[in-house]
Amino acid sequence: MKQVVTIEELRAARGVLKGRLGLVPTMGFLHQGHLSLVDLAKRDCDAVAVSIFVNPAQFGPNEDLEAYPRDLPADLQKLEEAGVDLVWLPTPEVIYPPGFNTWVDVEGVSAPLEGAMRPGHFRGVATVVAKLFNAVGPDAAYFGQKDAQQVAVIQQMVRDLNLPVEVVVGPTLREPDGLAMSSRNAYLNTDQRMAAAVLYRALSAAQTAYRAGERDAEALRGLMRATIEAEPLARLQYVSCAHPGTLAELERVEEGALLSLAVFVGTTRLIDNIVLE
Ligand code: PAF
Repeated sequence: MKQVVTIEELRAARGVLKGRLGLVPTMGFLHQGHLSLVDLAKRDCDAVAVSIFVNPAQFGPNEDLEAYPRDLPADLQKLEEAGVDLVWLPTPEVIYPPGFNTWVDVEGVSAPLEGAMRPGHFRGVATVVAKLFNAVGPDAAYFGQKDAQQVAVIQQMVRDLNLPVEVVVGPTLREPDGLAMSSRNAYLNTDQRMAAAVLYRALSAAQTAYRAGERDAEALRGLMRATIEAEPLARLQYVSCAHPGTLAELERVEEGALLSLAVFVGTTRLIDNIVLE
């Protein structure tokens, strides 16, 4: 497994990889969810590259950039075992050299939900992902459904800028109690970890109601709210029942609608979603 840091090293290493290249962009502290994206990439590509970069541009001033969990030796071991060909570990200066002044702003789909709660977040995500795509030149890139709005933003960017990259979305991996796997779960203490399962319980309650015939989106949002409010360690930030492509809130629910929510458990902010079927 080749490890590179600079753009020059990356281009040289990428040049020797033959056939279809899959890229899995990450911020490190890898868990089974990331590794499932690597597996997907390995299945449909000839070579797989992974980037590890905790992107300062997607963190707000009061967010967890400094505290964001990091464990590079463990990450590299997991990627080696997973059979990854190339790992790119850029420094902030490689991605944002002095004088850097170009940003990718995806309008519309970035505005609600995470975009409303985390101003500037998707500008940081879209900019870094555009840079990763340009530098690595992958044929396909793999993202998790857990960050559903991020996926919608990246898909919009790829369409609008004619980026020659196929965006592949892997399913959310869950712990046995339903908690979506996330690097940020590492912040939770034992009680909070148990309480955090409430996100999936809320989504499941709405899914069950939908399957039983409920088509009023506000009723589903109400069910999710009530489930979260019943958990003393959880504080709801938003619930949504939206169109999966535009993320506009729905009145009547259709198959394929995206249920999502953001919840603080202690000081840890968790997000999750499911697509109604
Ligand atoms: O989902 C993530 O880990 C990040 O937002 C990404 C896509 C690697 C961009 O920094």
